[in-house]
Amino acid sequence: MTDMATSSDLDRVITLADFEPIAHGRMAGPAFDYVAGGSWDEVTLAENDVAWRRFRFLPRVLRDVRTVDVRGEFLGRKAAIPVAVAPMAVQGMAHPDGEVEACRGAAAAGIPYILSTSSSRTMEDVAAAVPDAERWFQLYTVQSFEYSRTLVERAEAAGYRALVVTVDLPVLGRRERDVRSGFTLPEMPHVGEADTLGPSRYGALEMQRGAGLTWQWIEEMRGWSSMPIILKGILAPADAARAAELGVAGIVVSNHGGRQLDRAVTAPDVLEAVVNAVAGRCEVWADGGIRRALDIVVAVALGASGVLVGRPFYWALATAGRSGVERAAELLREELLLALPMLGASTIAEIDRSLLASAGS
Ligand code: FNR
Ligand code: LAC
Repeated sequence: MTDMATSSDLDRVITLADFEPIAHGRMAGPAFDYVAGGSWDEVTLAENDVAWRRFRFLPRVLRDVRTVDVRGEFLGRKAAIPVAVAPMAVQGMAHPDGEVEACRGAAAAGIPYILSTSSSRTMEDVAAAVPDAERWFQLYTVQSFEYSRTLVERAEAAGYRALVVTVDLPVLGRRERDVRSGFTLPEMPHVGEADTLGPSRYGALEMQRGAGLTWQWIEEMRGWSSMPIILKGILAPADAARAAELGVAGIVVSNHGGRQLDRAVTAPDVLEAVVNAVAGRCEVWADGGIRRALDIVVAVALGASGVLVGRPFYWALATAGRSGVERAAELLREELLLALPMLGASTIAEIDRSLLASAGS
């Protein structure tokens, strides 16, 4: 990738959706489909794309919005916007430096970066390259719980500030695009090889240790490090209440980008009920199909304090490396700087349920 190609590609990007076709041209077909795709009939994937758009605003006027502050806050720390980069596997398929490059972009934009267990680069490589970044580690309990504990200890030692435990992957979703294309995941240093399984599409991720992950293990994990724990992949209000009761620092209301249980509800379907169930005991974030500042506003109005964005950052990384990731975040920031004044809000904290008229159907 030459610098010239990079800057001209970025010139064509005026909103997040513009990264995807450029990434399509740059990535191998099966890899592109793995990232873009969802599970089974991709019903939930399609619904994620439209779910946030069902809501209509009831803007307020004649408020002083000369100064607008679009910063968010995660775990007590400010971020440039209330957005974190979602954990996504094997970013080496998007850029030769993979997660190292993506984390550089997130750090430049001033937003948190969540490193997947299934990364192409090791957590220590990323930490060494971007020591001061707000970095969190996402855990899959691969291989064994003992091995997973070593990953958590390594993450804490490498300066990751939070542990995001993904709880919606007892087994992997059936991704039929991958079956058709014959896609297999490239090497993942933290996951290792599935040598006992023979040839496998997703390596040791298929070893189903996730199926043994229970509430007891989440309690156990609190003793593995002093990092705050966030549970990612909660949809049922009862599970949210239980997580809050357990004392986790946060939860992510998520259907895994439509990649796990197809026909699962979308985050906005359940967000308010989840927020009520949690009753202020922990932070609540949401993801799946967030593509515009207006989607972020809906999430915050429904009670989330922040959101994760996935695929657009992957496409941005493939388009222009760290500059792409930084630009994607900047585009969301620019959109927020327009949206808030028109809503009559001068800070993210001023966005509440009263700004939503209704959920359309
Ligand atoms: C993911 N996601 C994910 N989640 C996780 O906890 N660990 C992981 O390793 C991955 N890997 C992964 C790979 C790819 C290619 C995608 C697209 C997604 C899910 C991710 O964190 C997030 O929940 C969704 O991607 C959010 O939806 P959007 O923004 O992509 O629509
Ligand atoms: C995925 C897994 C790795 O969604 O989280 O592909």
